[in-house]
Amino acid sequence: MELSEIFEEFLQKNLCKIETFHPFYQEALNYMLEAPGKRFRPMLLLSVVQAVNPLLIPSSLQPAMAIELLHTYSLIHDDLPVMDNADMRRGRATLHTKYDELSAVLVGDGLNTHAFYLLATSALSSDVKSRLCEILAYNGGIYGMVHGQILDCYFEKKPLDLEQLKQLHINKTAKLIAASLQMGAVIAGLDREMQEQLYDFGIDLGLLFQIQDDIIDATLTSQEAGKTTNNDQHKNSFVNLLGLANAINEADNLAQKLQKELEAFPENISTTLDTLLKHYFYRHKGNKHG
Ligand code: IPE
Ligand code: IPE
Ligand code: MG
Ligand code: MG
Ligand code: MG
Repeated sequence: MELSEIFEEFLQKNLCKIETFHPFYQEALNYMLEAPGKRFRPMLLLSVVQAVNPLLIPSSLQPAMAIELLHTYSLIHDDLPVMDNADMRRGRATLHTKYDELSAVLVGDGLNTHAFYLLATSALSSDVKSRLCEILAYNGGIYGMVHGQILDCYFEKKPLDLEQLKQLHINKTAKLIAASLQMGAVIAGLDREMQEQLYDFGIDLGLLFQIQDDIIDATLTSQEAGKTTNNDQHKNSFVNLLGLANAINEADNLAQKLQKELEAFPENISTTLDTLLKHYFYRHKGNKHG
């Protein structure tokens, strides 16, 4: 069985189970997790573990799921009318459209907290779990994703310069992607230097991922992307600041730089990550991984 299938099976088996008399609480908690996502962040964590010590894969599935929960919460809130006001996500009606805004806010809150419950109850040493909590909280919270999201929304209709836009993208998207690699490195027992090298690589990878996402918004239909597109008109996006051709160019350059950086990693890591990342490096060139 492929690693991605192993993860998907684990995720679907471990969806939230709640005893409740609320008519749709449990269903709403699981609604966006059941929908097909790329599972990019958990696969980054698992790929690092797979490269270094595959025996640790079983105990890495729960931390990988924790990242997916935190990411999914960020998407549920991102789609709310007060943020991006989107009605399609992962090929389905967004959570607030299917249920209501109140449920979407609370499900997001719940998945965010539950991510840390999953980390705390993983079958790993206390030292490792404490580092994983620290890394996810730092990068997914006020020093990372939340900071990026508040910049993204506050500066709608207020153009930023390119350096500020990069900072926005690094916070809202790249830090969680970098954290996924770093968490894999911590579980695998790699030294601090290698953890940091993977984190730095992840920041560039995450920046590429968000530039591609900006290109997807401008070039794919909602149907093709599985989410509401053509929705960034008032945003600071790479396409809006640089134009489509330059944004594609920027993504090409970054993809080439990343491919070189990847080759410099120890062979087990570069080979395993290359297998995963080759699907992503050029997705702005029509590789429809939306
Ligand atoms: C979308 O993330 C939001 C961004 C940070 C660009 P993904 O493109 O990974 O979305 P899913 O998880 O596959 O739905
Ligand atoms: C969202 O960026 C980043 C998050 C932290 C969720 P976008 O707003 O561009 O993501 P999409 O395009 O809606 O998936
Ligand atoms: Mg957004
Ligand atoms: Mg959005
Ligand atoms: Mg987008």
